[in-house]
Amino acid sequence: MKILILSAVAMATSMLASGAIAQASAGATVDPSAFINQFESTFGKFEGYRRSGAKGICAAGEFVGSAEARALSTASAFSGSPVPVVVRFSVGGANPKAPDNAKSQRNLALQFNLPNGEQWLMGNISSPVFGASSPQQFIDLLASRQADPTTKMPDPAKVKAFNDANPEVLLLPKHLAAQPVPASFGSVNYWGVHAYGFVNASGARQFGKWIFEPVGGLQGLSDDEAKAKGATFLFDDLRQRVKDGKVAFNFNLELAQAGDKIDSATVPLPDGRRKVNLGQLKITSVSEDGGGPCLSINYNPMVMPKGVEASADPMLPARAAPYAISLGRRLVEGAKQQ
Ligand code: HEM
Repeated sequence: MKILILSAVAMATSMLASGAIAQASAGATVDPSAFINQFESTFGKFEGYRRSGAKGICAAGEFVGSAEARALSTASAFSGSPVPVVVRFSVGGANPKAPDNAKSQRNLALQFNLPNGEQWLMGNISSPVFGASSPQQFIDLLASRQADPTTKMPDPAKVKAFNDANPEVLLLPKHLAAQPVPASFGSVNYWGVHAYGFVNASGARQFGKWIFEPVGGLQGLSDDEAKAKGATFLFDDLRQRVKDGKVAFNFNLELAQAGDKIDSATVPLPDGRRKVNLGQLKITSVSEDGGGPCLSINYNPMVMPKGVEASADPMLPARAAPYAISLGRRLVEGAKQQ
């Protein structure tokens, strides 16, 4: 039986990887397996866990699209009828024991289950920019942080040299360091980071960058409050807030104007761009443990419904294959997230 599962998983992994690799070949300049190997070399290998966003929890939600969204895109997600969403909240990084009370990244991954078997998948982060603008820069960033075999620590000179040569990689950590520790997965903004094209019934195409903004407003902790909360409070906090019906997000889109840079994950749109509401996502339930449907999902952002398109941002297609490989490894190892 185990051999059957392993061969099925191996088959799935190779099919996923080959599909994703074919899909990603457009943007990826880096071998997807090399990416996952580098994640493991830099952050350690935590069997069964995602190689990024390891510590997480499954939830369920419902999305209702707006009339403004229907004017921008034919995507069925915006029909106005409730759409079921498989949600995953997580703490950034590869460490499944990452503390909840650090000024670090929070993630909101979503799978919209649309009519006619269509899906829309996305992985959003609590920063308007990502930590690298090209696949090569990202793997070099990870390599620059790999521990020196003698000192068992990253080499500060190597890290500094890399940062000096690639200043944009500091924008993400600077943003996170400037924010308070989020009081909850439900009280922080999540950005898609990439630009996407929205195509409406008359074929008009509008590019933009999206943000999920908590309906209840942003809420952060003071350093003392964060210290008092300890390293493991987010899951129970989320369960309570969802039970109280207090976790919902406005799905907003900042509209790009002609001339705006829309092909970079480290360059946000200029301030003051018009923002439209695409609808609202309400979180309706949270898993009682580390299980749930999100555990074996690969939140590949290249899976979009008709009416939504990828921009020329090279980081977007480059995510597909490494995610599939990470999924394959953790399924073989026995997927877990807590
Ligand atoms: C070449 C670029 C990138 C690589 C190689 C990469 C790699 C990964 C890997 C291996 C995972 C775990 C996937 C799994 O096991 O299912 C992951 C998860 C994630 N990544 Fe990336 N990533 C990249 C770019 C980005 C960018 C630009 C964002 C920003 C929006 C992002 C946001 C996330 C999120 C939110 C998750 C957690 C998704 C979940 O809960 O399953 N990643 N990434």
